[in-house]
Amino acid sequence: MNDSNIINSKRSKLLAALKWQIDIGVDESIDNHTFNRFNQIVQGKKKQETKSIPTNSTQKSESLDFSQQNINNLSEQLMSKEAININAMSLANDATDLISLKNNLALFEGCSLKKTATNLVFGQGQENADVMLIGEAPGRHEDRQGVPFIGPSGQLLDEMLSYIGLSREKNVYLTNIIPWRPPGNRQPTDIEIISCLPFLYQHIALVKPRILVFLGATSAKTLLESTEGITKLRGKWYDYKSSYLKKSGIESIPAMATLHPAYLLRQPAQKRSTWKDLLSIRELLNTYTG
Ligand code: URA
Repeated sequence: MNDSNIINSKRSKLLAALKWQIDIGVDESIDNHTFNRFNQIVQGKKKQETKSIPTNSTQKSESLDFSQQNINNLSEQLMSKEAININAMSLANDATDLISLKNNLALFEGCSLKKTATNLVFGQGQENADVMLIGEAPGRHEDRQGVPFIGPSGQLLDEMLSYIGLSREKNVYLTNIIPWRPPGNRQPTDIEIISCLPFLYQHIALVKPRILVFLGATSAKTLLESTEGITKLRGKWYDYKSSYLKKSGIESIPAMATLHPAYLLRQPAQKRSTWKDLLSIRELLNTYTG
């Protein structure tokens, strides 16, 4: 093989490896070093195996030990869940404006998504917005730039909002349930959502919008504390209440749930129902602003 053949063969091997990674869903490199996680699992398993070999005489006490261990683990987890929440609540409550809320959120270590994300995605738009929209979690584009809704779904959202006279430059504020990107855009878990919630409650109480809009199932279910699907929840008006809001002197804010723009990109026929929701939002807004 001559030099150029060798280079071409290396190049096609590298391209094949890259293609394989894309095919299996890798969309971001988050570290310069690779970890053999299979190795970690095998090592962990080996440790467990050696620990749990039962002998007749000790079988009972070992299983007792094991359940005791489970109780200990569980109570440790519960205690740390509570501790995380107390920590989140005090950091959120201490914030008196959006800048201090962002700074306090950046100090919060209770959500593991912070470790894999590139940037904190806090919020964007007008501090005293008429409408505050809340999505699920940042995606790849948002994570890179630390700004919510700037990828393809954000562009669609901007376009839809413009039809009813709304924009982030004028009268809108945007944020998410979760401020850090979940790896591979997976759905955030309940514990991830719960650990960040005090910050979101305070975020809403500080922006004090006239209208809240929950984009998609995760946002709607979380903030309406409902287990219903988004198709049932969307298109209706709710009264959003929270103790954080009450502390800032507001009893409730009218809230509408609607479909997530990322879903509309996949199912354009559903834009029709979203258009109805947008008109309903505009109609209510007109009663305030004329
Ligand atoms: N999807 C969301 O829910 N939020 C973003 O910021 C971007 C995409």
